[in-house]
Amino acid sequence: MLRGLRKKWGVNNRQFWIIFLAFALTGTTTAMITRYVTTWLGMSAETYWAWKVLLRLAMLLVGYQGILLLYGALLGQWPFFWKYEKKLLTKLKILSETPSKITRLAIFASGAGSNAAKIIAHFEHHPTIKIALIVCNKPGAGVLTIASNNQIPVLMIEKEPFLKGDAYTAELAANAIDFIVLAGFLWKIPAALIEAYPNKIVNIHPALLPKYGGKGMYGAKVHEAVITAGEKESGISIHWVNEHYDEGGIIFQATCNIDPLDTADSLANKIHALEHLHFPMQLERLLTAQ
Ligand code: GAR
Repeated sequence: MLRGLRKKWGVNNRQFWIIFLAFALTGTTTAMITRYVTTWLGMSAETYWAWKVLLRLAMLLVGYQGILLLYGALLGQWPFFWKYEKKLLTKLKILSETPSKITRLAIFASGAGSNAAKIIAHFEHHPTIKIALIVCNKPGAGVLTIASNNQIPVLMIEKEPFLKGDAYTAELAANAIDFIVLAGFLWKIPAALIEAYPNKIVNIHPALLPKYGGKGMYGAKVHEAVITAGEKESGISIHWVNEHYDEGGIIFQATCNIDPLDTADSLANKIHALEHLHFPMQLERLLTAQ
């Protein structure tokens, strides 16, 4: 049940417990203030019941919501609680519903596509985020089957026009793509694409950047390098994409331990588990906060 709620809220484990704490603190504070106001107004058992109900309603509708926003902001969760309040006010018809724009994502992937599969499943019923296109440069890649099973259109690309031409920006525009997710895509992203999608391209890298990134560092090669170097931990980095391999600003990292018996394969499994757990949720957080 807690897991379902966490998924619905689109937050990670840490945020989830902070949000819980904000709700708990708000409940306690509201109850204390209500008691104080009741005494201050001189209300007692003899007070007409409707006045008491009115006071409680006012505290619930105004006081509670205000205090919730305050605790949310103090605990660093303003975006979550502001979205929560807006939803509530819209439900109560205090705010009018603004038609929400759909963000159309293109996933660039050329491998097995396990991350693409998790992202597709995560956003399947999302009201404002849609996986609109899979972009792939490798005929026969597993991700193509995933696209076909989910009825997602595919754009097959070739190196020359991608790296030296317009980087398929015309095709992406024709598919009304707003945001690009690299999930196991190994070619360098050319300037033409970065210019067309400023701050709208993210990548996942299977190590803790800035270490073990750069040209030629992908998949098993990364894990072999990490193990050979005798690292005690590795992890995943979700980062913005710029013209240099794996050098854009880091958005999120998560770590895992490396045991003495770990091989590149067993480490790859740990990394994939981390990616599947965090990548879809971090994308949702990023896209809904924009
Ligand atoms: C993922 O582990 C991703 O981090 C890595 O390729 C794998 C793709 O797996 N990306 C890189 O190494 C980029 N430098 P998937 O096809 O099963 O999602």
